[in-house]
Amino acid sequence: MLVLGIETSCDETAAAIVADGRRILSNIVSSQIDIHARFGGIVPEVASRQHVTAMIPVVEEALRRADVDWKDLEAIATTHGPGLAGSLLVGVSTAKAISFAKDLSLVGINHLEAHIYANWLGEEEPSFPLLCLIVSGGHTDLILMKGHGDYTLLGQTRDDAAGEAFDKAARILGLGYPGGPAIDKAAKNAKADIKLPRAWLRGTDDFSFSGLKTALLRLSEAGGIANISNAAASFQEAVVDVLVKKTVNAAVKCGARQILLSGGVSANSFLRQQMALASPLPVLIPHSALCTDNAAMVAACGYWRFQAGHVSNLDLDVIPSLALL
Ligand code: KG4
Ligand code: ZN
Repeated sequence: MLVLGIETSCDETAAAIVADGRRILSNIVSSQIDIHARFGGIVPEVASRQHVTAMIPVVEEALRRADVDWKDLEAIATTHGPGLAGSLLVGVSTAKAISFAKDLSLVGINHLEAHIYANWLGEEEPSFPLLCLIVSGGHTDLILMKGHGDYTLLGQTRDDAAGEAFDKAARILGLGYPGGPAIDKAAKNAKADIKLPRAWLRGTDDFSFSGLKTALLRLSEAGGIANISNAAASFQEAVVDVLVKKTVNAAVKCGARQILLSGGVSANSFLRQQMALASPLPVLIPHSALCTDNAAMVAACGYWRFQAGHVSNLDLDVIPSLALL
């Protein structure tokens, strides 16, 4: 069964074709990073206009690369939240029009659930129960997943998301946008020689990263940063330390069989390495290109939602603050 996925929740215009929720036939991502970089962050109005320009060529390219025809497809899955309203509208309107014109089933997808399903695109199929850590620009969630669509929220961030913290720290250190990859790169071969605080929030599975960010800011304002790369490594180590220890604890406590990482921050090389080292359970992490926003994960998620009988109508709307649970 072939599903066309569409993703436009933030600043990537993406379309992909996935077979049986597992095998990628094409995965096209048109990034707007260069356009937003000079503003130091995403400008929502600019993002929606870019999506309008890129959407149709990206969908056509996804079909061409997969070498499939409209009649080969069974369903079209599109992210309808959470995300930027104007950006989401482009993908949802496009998916609705295609669904109507080509007589394809329409499946509205939660962007966070799609991030989790990026793990079904790897070689090994995940086995339940799973402990999922979603670390993206807007979310840091620990979720117990007992089966397809069966989620229990164990913990979440009380302030900044991990990706947001990376982006803010990069700005403080003058490393530019997007901050996560910039810190990852700067920290390579650097020494984590600055002591920064960790918020453990003991007795809970919650996270907090704003204190860490403020500590870095105060240090920078006081002229206490002599080496930017070492500061990046120290910050990265502080975030990863908390993410790894709290995730492993939660996984063992809830009897999970595997740990799944997902979301943009799971592309972080230090997090990938440290989680694998610290966990007594198998750790699954998508290929780096599938950690950040893409449409293959949306198509994979769409397949499983469709199998479970979740089909949307043409009144499917965007929900910028859509929650997973
Ligand atoms: O999942 P994502 O692509 O978009 C959202 O759904 O938010 O995540 C974007 C976030 C950004 O904050 C970005 O800085 C971060 O993921 N990120 C990284 C890395 N690559 C992307 N953070 C740390 N290390 C990376 N290599
Ligand atoms: Zn995302």
